[in-house]
Amino acid sequence: MSNLLSLQQRHRAGEKIAMLTCYDASFAARLESAGIDALLVGDSLGMVIQGQTSTLPVRLEQIVYHTAAVARGAPNTFIIADLTFGSYQTGPAQAFDAAAQLMAAGAHCIKLEGGAVMAETVHFLVSRGIPVCGHLGLLPQSVYASGGYAVQAKTRESADQLLDDALLLEQSGACMLVLEAIPALLAAQVTQRVHIPTIGIGAGNQCSGQVLVLYDMLGITPKKPPRFVRNFMHDVPNIDQAIALYIQAVRDGSFPADEHSFLKPIL
Ligand code: KIV
Repeated sequence: MSNLLSLQQRHRAGEKIAMLTCYDASFAARLESAGIDALLVGDSLGMVIQGQTSTLPVRLEQIVYHTAAVARGAPNTFIIADLTFGSYQTGPAQAFDAAAQLMAAGAHCIKLEGGAVMAETVHFLVSRGIPVCGHLGLLPQSVYASGGYAVQAKTRESADQLLDDALLLEQSGACMLVLEAIPALLAAQVTQRVHIPTIGIGAGNQCSGQVLVLYDMLGITPKKPPRFVRNFMHDVPNIDQAIALYIQAVRDGSFPADEHSFLKPIL
């Protein structure tokens, strides 16, 4: 059984949080049985389920559909669902309408991408009872503006900006932050400065927890996965053992290892 309170307790106790993306009831049930701490119905489903080249074409009603399936499969696990591109960027009222649909489908928290520009929206949602997870670093919904799927915040200026964004999102009421594809050192600094859990993906092993795209860590994704992914099926004979190995490796800090992290200094 996991919920926001149990995740906050894990965090306070210094225990790592193991999260995976999930899009359907069968995987959700297996992940819940394995003891996963949280599930993310991510808009990565656009790429791994729909075969799109980015997350931008994913529609809100598709995340609603997949969230309902995941909630049926894992009724006792904390579920975060992604607000999709175009469903929240125009302002707090639009974001509330979209978030309400995800919560009605079974989500316990919504995730949105962006820093300072999202602070007002985060505050609006949180003060109306919707837990919000922020997402900083590589923002897949802004991939055409940022120039591709590259490591972010590699300069001192951009690293300082990301740290400021993290502090502002926390101050606005975010309950958690996903940090994607940033230097491990910066993720460690953010994790030390904020009081809410940081969940890394390509952000080194000093974060409060980790998330991976389920299909990447099971080696199902047809394309070459990003460098920060470990294929957990390499070491064990079946999916259940791969999931158990992932949870154990996150909890004991052995994943991500150096080879999955960006260790170069910030310039
Ligand atoms: O959509 C997604 O799966 C995500 C993760 C990559 C963090 O946002």
